[in-house]
Amino acid sequence: MATFAAGFGSIIFNIKQIVQVTDDPECLFLRGEDMGKIKILESENSDLAVLVDVDGVISHIGCNSELKALAKSTKCRESVDAEGGCLVPGLVDGHTHPVFAGDRVHEFAMKLAGASYMEVQQAGGGIHFTTKKTREAVDSELLESLEEIGVEMLKAGTTTLEAKSGYGLDTETEMKMLDVIEMANAIFPLEFSATFCGAHAIPKDSDEWLQTELIINEMIPRIVEEKANGNMTCVENIDVFCEKGVFEVDSSRRILMAGKSAGLRINFHADELTRLGGAEMGAEIGARAMSHLEEISPAGIAAMAKSKSVGVLLPTTCYMLRLKAPPARDMIDQGVIVALGSDFNPNAFCLSMPTVMHLACVTFKMSMPEAFVASTLNAAYSIGRSKRIGAITVGRQADLIVLEAPKWEHLIYRFGCHAMVIKHVIKNGKVVFSKS
Ligand code: NIG
Ligand code: FE
Repeated sequence: MATFAAGFGSIIFNIKQIVQVTDDPECLFLRGEDMGKIKILESENSDLAVLVDVDGVISHIGCNSELKALAKSTKCRESVDAEGGCLVPGLVDGHTHPVFAGDRVHEFAMKLAGASYMEVQQAGGGIHFTTKKTREAVDSELLESLEEIGVEMLKAGTTTLEAKSGYGLDTETEMKMLDVIEMANAIFPLEFSATFCGAHAIPKDSDEWLQTELIINEMIPRIVEEKANGNMTCVENIDVFCEKGVFEVDSSRRILMAGKSAGLRINFHADELTRLGGAEMGAEIGARAMSHLEEISPAGIAAMAKSKSVGVLLPTTCYMLRLKAPPARDMIDQGVIVALGSDFNPNAFCLSMPTVMHLACVTFKMSMPEAFVASTLNAAYSIGRSKRIGAITVGRQADLIVLEAPKWEHLIYRFGCHAMVIKHVIKNGKVVFSKS
C-alpha cells in the first residue's frame, strides 16, 4: 500500500468532472477499444475534490466537504476553486524539437508554392538551415528561446514533454543542445525527457556511413561519459530520422542498438515519407516508440501491436506538409498503443496539444477520448513515465489542468482556443500557470 506524506499540500474543489483516464494505479497504457473508454467522475452540483500531499502526490479523490475538512486539519497550503469546471491530467507531448535558433518562415512560402519537404532540404534548407543557425547560437540564447516556448506550452496545458536534440549534427552542438534541455529541466516548471537525435540529418560535408560512425564512436560515448559524471540526467532516449536518403534501415538499426546498449530507450522517426520498413525494424529491436508512421505497412502495424511499441502520431506535420494521414484507425483497431505529439519544430510551428488533439480527431478520425488518452497516459508511457503521470489516481503525481468549461471535451472542441478553456495548470501539486 502507498504511504503518503503527513501534511497536505493543495486541494482542488468544486469540480464538475474529473477525467481520470484510468482509475487503475497499475495501468500503464490503454489500447484498442479501451482507448475509447476513459474513466470520468461526474457530479451535477460540482461536489468533487482532489487532495494533494506535500510531495505533490494525489492522496485523495472525494467530495468537497470530506476533503476540505481533511485539508483544514492538516494545514493545506494551496487551495484552488474549480468553480464548477473540469479537472484533467496535465498533457504529455510525445514528440518535440524545441531547441533551435532562427525560424523557417521563408520556407513556409516555398512549401505553399509546391516544394516538398525533401526538396527544400536537398536545396540546403530545412534541417540544414536550422543546424547552421543553432551551431552559431550560444547556449544562453537557446535557453532563452526554449523558455519562451516552454511558457506557451504550459499555458496550453503541457506539463511534460519529450524534447530532441538534432540541429547540431556535430558532437559539440549536439552536446550543447542536450545541456540546454538539462538546464531547462532543472529550472522550468516543465518536465523534459530528452532525446539524443544526432542522426536527424546527414551534414553536407559527410555521408550516411561517416555520420553513423561519428554517432556510434564519438557522440554516444560522450553521453555515456557525461551521465557517469552525473550530467545529462534527463537524456533518456535515442532517435534517428529513418528515411530514404537520410539514415536507411541498416544504419538506423546500428545507431539505435548502440544507443540501447548505452542505456537509452529507442524512440525514433519511422516510415514518414517512404515505406522503408522502419516500423518492422523498430519492433524487432524493442523500440519503446516510433513517430510519424504515415507510410507504415500492414506488417509494420502487426509488428508494433505485438511488440507494444508506441505509435506517436503527429497531425501537425501531416497538415503542414499535406501528407496522407497515418492509418490511425487500423493501428488502434489492431492494438497498437497510440500516442500524440506536437512535433513542434521550425517546420511545424505548433506547440498546442489541444490543437493537436483536434487535428487528430478530424484528420486521423480518432475519437475525443482516444485523442485524450494518446496525449496523456499513452504519451507518458512512450517516455517511460506512465506509472507516475498521465492519469488522475491516488498515488500518481498531481500534474493537472483545471478547465473553465462544464465538459472536458471543450479542450478539444474549441479549435485554436485553448486560452479560453485552460484556467490553471498544476505541476507536481503547485499551480504554475493561472489565467488572469
Ligand atoms: O519530425 N522528419 C524529421 N524531423 C522533424 C522535422 C525537423 C525539421 O524540419 O526541422 C519532424 O517532422
Ligand atoms: Fe520530429
